[in-house]
Order: sequence, then structure tokens, then C-alpha cells
Amino acid sequence: MNGTITLVVLVFGVVIYLYLSQRGRLSDLLRRLEMAEREREKAIDHLDSLSRSAARELDLVHRQLRRRAFDLHDLFTTSGEIRSISSLHEFLSSFMLTLIGHMRCTSAALFLPVDQETSVFTLQYEKGLHLGNRNRFSFTRDSELYRRLSSGSGVVPLSGVEPDPAWAEETRPLRDVGLVAAVPLVGREKLLGAAALGPRLDGEPYRDRDWELLSILLSQVSVTLENALLFERLNHSYQGTIQALVATIDAKDPSTVGHTQRTSRLATKVAEKMGLEGERLEMFTLGTLLHDIGKIGLPESILRRSVTTPINPGQLRLIQQHPMRGAEILGKIPFLGPAVDLARHHHERYDGLGYPDGLKGEGISLEARILAVADSYEAMTAPRKYKERRSPAKAVKEIRECAGTQFDPTVVEVLVQVLDEEKDWELPADSDPADSTPRVLSERRGSAAFN
Ligand SMILES: [Fe+2]
Repeated sequence: MNGTITLVVLVFGVVIYLYLSQRGRLSDLLRRLEMAEREREKAIDHLDSLSRSAARELDLVHRQLRRRAFDLHDLFTTSGEIRSISSLHEFLSSFMLTLIGHMRCTSAALFLPVDQETSVFTLQYEKGLHLGNRNRFSFTRDSELYRRLSSGSGVVPLSGVEPDPAWAEETRPLRDVGLVAAVPLVGREKLLGAAALGPRLDGEPYRDRDWELLSILLSQVSVTLENALLFERLNHSYQGTIQALVATIDAKDPSTVGHTQRTSRLATKVAEKMGLEGERLEMFTLGTLLHDIGKIGLPESILRRSVTTPINPGQLRLIQQHPMRGAEILGKIPFLGPAVDLARHHHERYDGLGYPDGLKGEGISLEARILAVADSYEAMTAPRKYKERRSPAKAVKEIRECAGTQFDPTVVEVLVQVLDEEKDWELPADSDPADSTPRVLSERRGSAAFN
């Protein structure tokens, strides 16, 4: 029994000893656990703070990206709109508004060469500047400004005065009106011009982001400007070609000088009233100017023959070939393709008795039906040497009598409306009285004149 008690006491003593000996370590362990917990909580707080901060940053970046995407979309949309404007002047005016709007600046200027050959760039468009004498604002290809714009380094600062007195003097007029930077408009091969900007509306300096946007805008505009200049040049050459062809017709038959242009103006007014517009109307006007080009294949013995000389069947056959000859000539020139129909079919009749194809009614294009009426009215009222000149009233009466047979009756009525609305419709002056040999070409049935 005593042994058992002794054993219990001994075990209890050992337990007490172990408890007392580990107590310090347990306390230390608990303390460490508490510290670890606090560290963990602090880490969680820190992570939470970091994640909130990261969320704010992401939101900011997201907003900036959205703004940038919006700006870029806006720029490209604007550029697209610019490309749809055919007139170079309208295009450049639009560009100035775009420049001011996107750069949020107080003023802007655009320098372009006076023409493709000149070496002088002048201020041709501006917004928000008070210029006075515009002639002060120009630069040449041998100027320092041109060199810096062509150097490929982008923005050329104008504000602040550099030590170089020549540069300071050269750019003084630009600084005097508040322009702070110039940027090049670079084409595929050369400098097309330069845009210059006044300060920002909010007074802040321009940032890199502004120049990036401007660079994108200008690259778009440069392409459009270069295409527009090319178009202008081609159009100039195109108009010159047409004028040369019309002059050729007039030279071949001097008694009808001016007839083509008058017919074209009248026919175009009728066409507008009948709803033709845009490119279709432009092509129609072109066709009216060239519809008689086939006459250049006719011998002068026919065109200048006397009224007392009757026309023979061979001559009549030749005359009736002029629409086909005209269509053949125009068909070989790609950009004159739309005029082929008018050249070939302007002598078709509404009742199918015309030539060369005997087309009838709406089988004849609306354009050819309009031209047939306008051409006949103009020929009847014009001073020709081979026929009696009709008064406008008499010509209208005759044309109305031919409505439904020779002419489309709807077109006839529209022509009459146009003549009523344009009371002062230009009547051609009498031709040179010195050349008074009368001529008559009654080569086709029901036709009022050889037009
Ligand atoms: Fe003709």
C-alpha cells in the first residue's frame, strides 16, 4: 500500500515538475502564436490595402484606355468623313476644326505650298488667330523651319527664344501671334506642309499623349491631303481633256460653237429637276458635253454644205453614224466610259424611229431622253446657218407637238418648267453675219435640227 502511495506521489511530482518546467516554453509558444496571428492580420490588411490600391490603378488605366480608344475612334471617324469631302478647300477647312477640337487649343494654322512647283509654304488656313498681314507668315524650302520640320523629329517648338538669332528672327512672326509649336505634314516622299498650334485652352502644357494623338491625326490627314492633291491634279487634267475635246467639236463645226455648253447647262437643270444627283448627275453633265464628239469624223463637205445643196443618201448615212463614232471614241478612254451611252443614244426617239439602234420608250436611258429634248430645244433656238432660228415660244410649241413621238412627254414637261422658272435662260447670240450661207440638214424624220 505504502509502495502504491509512494508511486502516486512520485508520478504526481514528476507531472508537477514537467508542468512547471514547460510552462515557460508554453507561454513563449502562445506568445509567438499571438504574434504570428497579428502578423497574419497585418499582412491581410496590407494585402487588402494593396488590392484596393491596385483596383484604383486599374480603374484609372481602364478610364485612360477608354478615353484613348474614344479619341482614336473619333479621329478615325473624322478622317473618314474628311475623305468623303471632294473639295480640297472643304477638306482643309474641316481639318482645321478637327485640329482645334482634338488638341483643345486656342488657335491653329496650316501652311501649304502655293502650288506643287513652288518652294514657298504660306499660311492658307487658320482658326483663332489675329493675323493682320498674312504675307508675313510663310517659309521656304531653304529655311531653318523647313529643315527642322523635315528632320523626322516631329514637333518643332516655337515658344521660347533659342540662342540662335537667325532662328529667333525666322520664327518671331509665328510666336507673335501665339503659335507655340509646328508639326510636319509628311507625305510619301516629301513634306506636304505644316500645322502650327497655339497654347492649350486649359493653359496646361502639351503632354506626350497630345503629341501621340496629333501624330495619328496628321498621318491620316497627310494621306488624305496627298490623295486630294493627286485628285485635284488628275481632275485638272481630266477637265482639260474634256475642254479640249469640246473645243475640237466646235472647231470642226464653227456654226455650233457654244451649242454644246448651252445644251449641257439646260440638260443638267432638267436632270436635276428629275432627281438625278451626285455622281450620276456629274457623269450626265460630262456626257452632255461630249455627246457630239462623233462629229469630228464627219467631212467638212457635209458640215459646211450650202442649203441649196441637197443631202445625198451617202452623206445621210455618214451623218447617222456620228453617234456610233462618238461612242467608239469615248469607249476607248476609260474615264469617259459613262459618256458612251449619251453619245450613242442621243438621236434615239421615244417612238423607236430614231437611230442608231431604234430604241424605244424607257428602253432609252433617262439621261439620253433628257439630252434629246434639251439638245433639240437648244438647236432650234440657236442661230444656225442651215435653218430658221425659232423663238423660245415657238420652239417649246414644236417640242410639245413632238411629245410622245420624238420625245419623252415627261421630260418635255420638265423642260418647259425649267424654261418657265429661268425666264432669263441664256439665248445664244447670233453668229457671225459675214458667214451667212444658209444650210439645211433635214437628215432625219421628225428631227428639228442636226444637233
Ligand atoms: Fe448629235
